[in-house]
Amino acid sequence: METLLLFFGIVSAVSAYAFWFYLLARRLTGPKVWPIVGSLPFLFMNRQRIHDWIASNLRATGGACTYQTCTLCLPFLARKQGFFTVTCHPKNIEHILRTRFDNYPKGPQWQEAFHDLLGEGIFNSDGETWLIQRKTAALEFTTRTLRQAMARWVNRTIKNRLWCILDKAAKENRAVDLQDLLLRLTFDNICGLTFGKDPETLSPELPENRFAVAFDTATEATLYRFLYPSFQWRLGKFLEIGTEKTLKQSLEIVDNYMNDAVAARKENPSDDLLSRFMKKRDVNGDLFPTSVLQRIALNFVLAGRDTSSVALSWFFWLVMNQPEIEKKIISEISSVLRETRGDNKQKWHEEPLDFDEADRLVYLKAALAETLRLYPSAPEDFKYVIQDDVLPDGTFVPTGSTVTYSIYSVGRMKTIWGEDCMEFKPERWLSPEGDKFEAPKDGYMFVAFNAGPRTCLGKDLAYLQMKSVASAVLLRYRLSLVPGHRVEQKMSLTLFMKNGLRVYMHPRALA
Ligand code: HEM
Repeated sequence: METLLLFFGIVSAVSAYAFWFYLLARRLTGPKVWPIVGSLPFLFMNRQRIHDWIASNLRATGGACTYQTCTLCLPFLARKQGFFTVTCHPKNIEHILRTRFDNYPKGPQWQEAFHDLLGEGIFNSDGETWLIQRKTAALEFTTRTLRQAMARWVNRTIKNRLWCILDKAAKENRAVDLQDLLLRLTFDNICGLTFGKDPETLSPELPENRFAVAFDTATEATLYRFLYPSFQWRLGKFLEIGTEKTLKQSLEIVDNYMNDAVAARKENPSDDLLSRFMKKRDVNGDLFPTSVLQRIALNFVLAGRDTSSVALSWFFWLVMNQPEIEKKIISEISSVLRETRGDNKQKWHEEPLDFDEADRLVYLKAALAETLRLYPSAPEDFKYVIQDDVLPDGTFVPTGSTVTYSIYSVGRMKTIWGEDCMEFKPERWLSPEGDKFEAPKDGYMFVAFNAGPRTCLGKDLAYLQMKSVASAVLLRYRLSLVPGHRVEQKMSLTLFMKNGLRVYMHPRALA
């Protein structure tokens, strides 16, 4: 009798689950879902091409550009933790990033995972805590002195270090990993700009810098926290094992380094961001304590370090494969330099472009924007849903679920960018006369720098930095890929090249 009851119990539970699952699956519009594990098997199968997989799922919706999926098909959880709305529909993105901004914060899961590394800094906070830092930082980011400081740090690194390394490699006909050099360069620049200390990770012998390594390790260990259910990393943290132990050790090194940096700036303030924040006051009218200043600075380092270097790596690779576009870039730089420095080409090479020269490079800026359209440095971004809502295209998003907006996919949809969306065409960013840079009228068609109240604060600085580096490299060298080198995407929150960018440098003869 008991066995019979058990049998009927199991059959009823399975039938109830099957019916519940049928109703859930019927509502989902993304890839096929399986009981319990939902779309996880497909996610796993496509783990080496996640961004292209998401884009193909979005294309498969026809013009809808939004789908919903679930990775945890269990009653009570399926509408929260495991529920994902994935979109690249510009109207939906505008709704999330601007219209209903308050309903879509970074959210508790993101904040808790990043808390040890970033504290409550601008990149990792919501609400009042974020707003105060945003207002303070926004004032500083519009100053000419900060742009000048960036130009100074970049040009110093190009002249004293990057050119030396590249010249030597060209002379010896030796390949370099350009992505690695660029990562080092932007890391040095952002440290200089943020707390006035250049760690010189870009030096001829390419040294291992303790702070840079610890910062990388801490970032990587933090990203690990997103791969598993949160109780797992919490347990690891409590027991001090695995990646959590590595995270703790790396954070000690980072904290010590930042302590010294803050102490140095307190003694000798300069025009860096940290010195500027040291003069500001918090909500209570008090100066920021050292521990907070440290986290504020680290947030800027994280925000501004890899983004420009990976964009530049994709840019060089795209340009290398498009000689016509390369020719136009060189011709634009040459005509600006002819006007500012005269016909003597020796003078063109003596110094990197100054701020005003770089500012005039419209076609180069268009080529960089076009790179970011196809290869955005942050390919996917996520928001948490505070309250049930309906997106402009009619999609219902439940409380506690996650909305992913795929920045990578926005640039690759025919319905958004036209039939030629997969082509690298800087011209689409130019005015009809071709003399002005023109961003699309709908600002939410291009969200590589985010948009709305949380739009990237470093956008202008990033363009300045990228233009300086791109012109400094292309004016001197023609690049060629090392035969057999495979350029592939790394699956991470930043769109790195998995195997780097191995190239030969050939001195360029200017016409
Ligand atoms: C090509 C280069 C860059 C790209 C593609 C880029 C992209 C982005 C994106 C997508 C966000 C939004 C992140 C999020 O909220 O989830 C962001 C935020 C931010 N970026 Fe950039 N960024 C670049 C360079 C920089 C640089 C050089 C700096 C600093 C000097 C910087 C400073 C910031 C800051 C402070 C935020 C946080 C804004 C906020 O939450 O209010 N970025 N950036």
